[in-house]
Amino acid sequence: MPAPPPPMFLLPRRGCLIPALVAAICLCVASGATASSGGKKLVIDAPLLTSKVPTNQTIIVSPSGEDHFTSVQKAIDSVPDGNSGWVIVHLRAGVYREKVHVPESKPYIFLRGNGKGRTWIVWNDSSSVNSESATFTIQANNFIAFGISFKNDAPNGPLDEPSNQTVAAMVSGDKVAFYHCAFYSPHNTLFDHRGRHYYESSYIQGAIDFIFGRGQSLFQSCEIFVVEDKRTKIHGSITAQNRESEEDKSGFVFIKGKVYGVGDVYLGRPKGPHSRVVWANTYLSKTIVPEGWTNWSYDDTTDYLLYGEHNCKGPGAKHLRRVSWSKQLKEKDVAGITTIDFIDGKEWLPVYHPDDE
Ligand SMILES: *[C@@H]1O[C@H](CO)[C@@H](O)[C@H](O)[C@H]1NC(C)=O
Ligand SMILES: *[C@@H]1O[C@H](CO)[C@@H](O)[C@H](O)[C@H]1NC(C)=O
Ligand SMILES: *[C@@H]1O[C@H](CO)[C@@H](O)[C@H](O)[C@H]1NC(C)=O
Ligand SMILES: *[C@@H]1O[C@H](CO)[C@@H](O)[C@H](O)[C@H]1NC(C)=O
Repeated sequence: MPAPPPPMFLLPRRGCLIPALVAAICLCVASGATASSGGKKLVIDAPLLTSKVPTNQTIIVSPSGEDHFTSVQKAIDSVPDGNSGWVIVHLRAGVYREKVHVPESKPYIFLRGNGKGRTWIVWNDSSSVNSESATFTIQANNFIAFGISFKNDAPNGPLDEPSNQTVAAMVSGDKVAFYHCAFYSPHNTLFDHRGRHYYESSYIQGAIDFIFGRGQSLFQSCEIFVVEDKRTKIHGSITAQNRESEEDKSGFVFIKGKVYGVGDVYLGRPKGPHSRVVWANTYLSKTIVPEGWTNWSYDDTTDYLLYGEHNCKGPGAKHLRRVSWSKQLKEKDVAGITTIDFIDGKEWLPVYHPDDE
């Protein structure tokens, strides 16, 4: 057993003298990064992201026991309730086999991994209640994750318990961003529960309803990989969004990125009467069935749904046989939806891809 680490580790960092100065530097870098990207794709890596998160506090977690903690949860627990300044919890490469929960009382955590496929948080709960199955749960506001693979490896959506869920990550905080992360589960992978979220250059894998919930989320340059569900022959659906009313600001917006995999799948199915899902400038492989969308297990009218595609490419983007209630959206229809403003990102994201990139 490793020696108990200090509750908080202070690590001075260059360039963060006073918050105002930090803000000024960050603004400079932000506009610089956007302006100079001119045609070239902005790469949001760990150093860039770290430079935008003003803090001196870093807690290090490693499987070896050489640093402050060996358990991600214990590191989270060491952040005081009511925390109000950013704290970096750095996860060195390795597999952390544990369930991790960031409670509402611990905002401003930046969980920084060593890269997706290198730093893993894995557990294997299966439950008829989504939230109980989740490997990783974020309930606090103002949270950032970088370079982590989140996985629920419960045995393949238990054959004998088709109603059981196996969530990899449940995201219930507001102003939550994932950069270069990955999410794996047999199904119900990403419970995008509620709040404004940004997923950037992330990988999401599943078979049925694997991005679901009532979040207000922008998926920028993400890879969606469809796996076959071994329990059933029915075609699964990538999204199951449940926007309830016209006032409800939730919705899933996918920009750029690509969808591919094995088996056949729908882009989405409604859970709420105003469900909203838009795919823009996305590559859709032939894994998307020609009808595109399904109202399976949904008895309400399709009149208020916003299920749209804009400027998508690839064999799965052919829309001649799309269901009548889905839309091929024009430039003017997607204004304000397929931009960072959909999640008010300019107000709270440390860094994001410019809309014109
Ligand atoms: C970081 O540490 C320096 C020196 O102790 C301090 O002046 C500064 O306010 C700290 N910055 C933040 C963001 O906490
Ligand atoms: C879940 O993982 C734990 C720890 O590795 C293991 O002991 C347990 O058998 C696993 N449960 C199932 C259902 O696979
Ligand atoms: C299914 O979920 C229930 C709880 O909702 C749990 O008790 C049971 O063990 C789960 N089944 C499997 C095969 O994991
Ligand atoms: C469900 O979709 C099918 C195919 O587009 C359509 O025929 C049917 O009327 C829809 N059901 C409802 C309740 O809108």
